[in-house]
Amino acid sequence: MRVLIATPECFPFVTTGGLGEMVSGFVKALARCGYDVHVGLPLYGTLHPNGDWTKTDRIAVPFDGGIRLCSVWTHGSEGVTYHFIEYHAYFGGSNIYGGVNEGERFAFFCCALLAMCEAFCCLPDVIHAHDWTTALLPVYLNTTLTHTPLRQTATVFTIHNLNYQGLFSPSLLYRAGIPMSEFRSDRLEALGYVNFLKGALYHATKLTTVSPHYAKEIQTPSFGCGLDDVLRFKAADLIGILNGIDTVRWDPSNDPSIAAHYTYHNLEPKETCKQALRQALQLTNEPVPLFGVVSRLCEQKGLDVLLEILPHLLRNLSMQLVVMGSSEPSWEARLHDLERNFPNRLRVKIGYEADLAHKIYAGCDFCVMPSRFEPCGLNQMYALRYGMLPIVRETGGLADTVENCDEINGRGCGFVFRDLTNDALYNTVGWACATYFDRPQLFRTLQQNAMKRDFGWERSVHAYEEVYRWAVERRRGG
Ligand code: GLC
Repeated sequence: MRVLIATPECFPFVTTGGLGEMVSGFVKALARCGYDVHVGLPLYGTLHPNGDWTKTDRIAVPFDGGIRLCSVWTHGSEGVTYHFIEYHAYFGGSNIYGGVNEGERFAFFCCALLAMCEAFCCLPDVIHAHDWTTALLPVYLNTTLTHTPLRQTATVFTIHNLNYQGLFSPSLLYRAGIPMSEFRSDRLEALGYVNFLKGALYHATKLTTVSPHYAKEIQTPSFGCGLDDVLRFKAADLIGILNGIDTVRWDPSNDPSIAAHYTYHNLEPKETCKQALRQALQLTNEPVPLFGVVSRLCEQKGLDVLLEILPHLLRNLSMQLVVMGSSEPSWEARLHDLERNFPNRLRVKIGYEADLAHKIYAGCDFCVMPSRFEPCGLNQMYALRYGMLPIVRETGGLADTVENCDEINGRGCGFVFRDLTNDALYNTVGWACATYFDRPQLFRTLQQNAMKRDFGWERSVHAYEEVYRWAVERRRGG
């Protein structure tokens, strides 16, 4: 089976967060299962083709009432063929998202991928699109392309984050070549705008999202971001499949970034990683638990609540905290203020450094993820793999991956709370701290439980294979 994965991000070429990480691990696992895997990405200005990449003849892309010519760069690695759409006027800059012509850029990206399939005579059995930037692909296949060979191609659309939908002025439909008849409330229209994501929800043959829990949540008004009615309507075609992680790159027994290697049979070397992390961050060596946050510092992640209780936590509990992530300037200033007030308790690193992320997972005892919503979340899985116990709110993928501590039976692998309130978060961090100090044996058992969990891609890839089979059958059956 030939599959074209359409995505705005894929590690290591270009990534701003979980989506790029997910796609990268997923496509390699799919190739290992014997699929003919192609990935389509824009050639952003930050990407520089090298000698291993080949440039094909230019292809003609029908767009904005005319024909645009663009080139495609192709590069193969680990059984996957990557295709990069080169069109300087849209992708030559360094920004991936945003800009005044964002909708136009990604509509063009979708048109270029479809033109590429036809020009290379490389018709996929399935086009698997990810998030709003590629959401017009299923729309084109069901509208403008129904008389072309692509009519046989099934579409699968994966929602990584329902909050980003791609809303644009209706005039974009003309430029994108989508019939105006699609601008209705049971298709692409929402609140007077063109809503890319909504188009995919209606037109994709099958829908998936990145955890079973989130698949249920988004069918309710509190998590549906205004599209819960559509998702309930499509419920029979929507399935939640938990993301895997790259267990080779994230492996405490063989990670070049960390000070000592360890497994669940012998966790002693993790202490060396803890000391090394403190030293690297100039934190004093105290007999206290080390907490870590590796996250985009934003409201989705519930970090406003953490920020509010942070002075109390640092004053009242024996703990140290390391925070790394990109942040709005106002939050950054507050974090740095707190760092000055609690120099031996808090370290803040703004931005993302991959090497430091590995050191944090290896060196910390607990990870804090109080997300308001979390489609999947990868960081809690990295944390579990490194024996760093997650403190999470019971939502989305966090609920599917972190089993709450059961003190009596020594089960579980983290600490879970339900409501995102100051008290709930404060008390759960307090519970984790108390477990560390008063129940060291239980703490160790939880770490081992965490490290024994299997988050490799194999299981999830089989679930996607099944979705592909259903989608192809449905499409070909009419
Ligand atoms: C998005 C979601 C995150 C998920 C990731 C990969 O970034 O917010 O929860 O893990 O996509 O699917």
